[in-house]
Amino acid sequence: MANHTPHHGPSSAAAAAGESRGLPATAGSVLWMSTQPHPPEWLSFAGTAAGWAIIPYEPRQEHAQLALADVVVLDARQDVGTRLVLCDQLRHKLLALGVPVIVLFDQDSSDLRMRALRAGAADCIGPGQSDQECAARVGTLLRLGSLERATRHQADQLRRQGQVLEQKVAEKTRDTVRGRDAIIFGLAKLAENRDDTTGHHLERVCAYSAVLAATIIGNREGVNAEWADVVERTAALHDIGKVGIPDGILLKAGPLTDLERTTMQRHTVIGGDTLNAIRLKWGDNPFIVTAMQIALGHHERWDGRGYPFGMSQENIPLVARIVSVADVYDALTTARPYKTAMSHSDAFEAIVAGAGTQFDPDLVKLTRGCESQFAEIRARFAEQVTPAERP
Ligand SMILES: [Fe+2]
Ligand SMILES: [Fe+2]
Repeated sequence: MANHTPHHGPSSAAAAAGESRGLPATAGSVLWMSTQPHPPEWLSFAGTAAGWAIIPYEPRQEHAQLALADVVVLDARQDVGTRLVLCDQLRHKLLALGVPVIVLFDQDSSDLRMRALRAGAADCIGPGQSDQECAARVGTLLRLGSLERATRHQADQLRRQGQVLEQKVAEKTRDTVRGRDAIIFGLAKLAENRDDTTGHHLERVCAYSAVLAATIIGNREGVNAEWADVVERTAALHDIGKVGIPDGILLKAGPLTDLERTTMQRHTVIGGDTLNAIRLKWGDNPFIVTAMQIALGHHERWDGRGYPFGMSQENIPLVARIVSVADVYDALTTARPYKTAMSHSDAFEAIVAGAGTQFDPDLVKLTRGCESQFAEIRARFAEQVTPAERP
């Protein structure tokens, strides 16, 4: 060390770094950043005593070396200006890695120390300090750097463990959701199977509803992909209340009397009540609330002449207005024992004719843009209709 006079000789410096004197004995890595290949004697001996690895800086290996270092000793005994610029350049990398820098000067100047500290140095060593003190300062920072690295390592491990746990929770949640959807769809199918004329009605209504819901994603508050997903799944429950309708009315081939029609219309309220009973056990959540809105509101009309409540326009929940279009389109395009299936274009015309009376006119406008998707869904599920279900 050019002007850094050893006050106590190498053996004192080594002892200064040793545990027996109460100084840090943490084994670690010291990155020796200098134009001189060899560190000063006090550092070499302190390193030997304390078990530090002293690594000469190699610019081409900077990334790996910085990642390994617990402390950087930056030699600014020569060309101090350039060395402080280097310190400043490295500060963000070192800060990110939690590696402290100690700057070595051969002048005892407050101005230099301040420049070093402003450039990101954690400490400075000048000519006025004994070898013991120099070693102790490096040792203290090394221990800090080592602790910082250990803390970051633990934090990384915790983060990784957290990610693994999150993945497991997500998988479990997906599994639970799949189970819920399967059970719910099974319940809806159970209700549907009482009315043997419907074939794949539920699947198609879900698919049409999903297409319509997707067209309005982002147009209104709360209308997003998650919401559209809930609409698609809960649309299957629109007629679940039919389980409460007597066979004599549900399966009656001929026209219904006024009383029978009123009873039949109660499937909306029965469905709403059934889902509300689930809600009371399960608690409020978008799935069950949406399902209730659909079961209760899918026969309401835009002009207020629907049932069960005679709600009109925006008072009818959006999801119910969507399923209303999907349900009617499917009813029109599906053959029944008492009627043939309407063509796709005729059904669309009927839907358009109902804009502003039966259906939400804005929704009908959007429906017109979904014709090809509706046709594709109809064709897809038509292929699965068994011969017995064909007209
Ligand atoms: Fe219905
Ligand atoms: Fe239906």
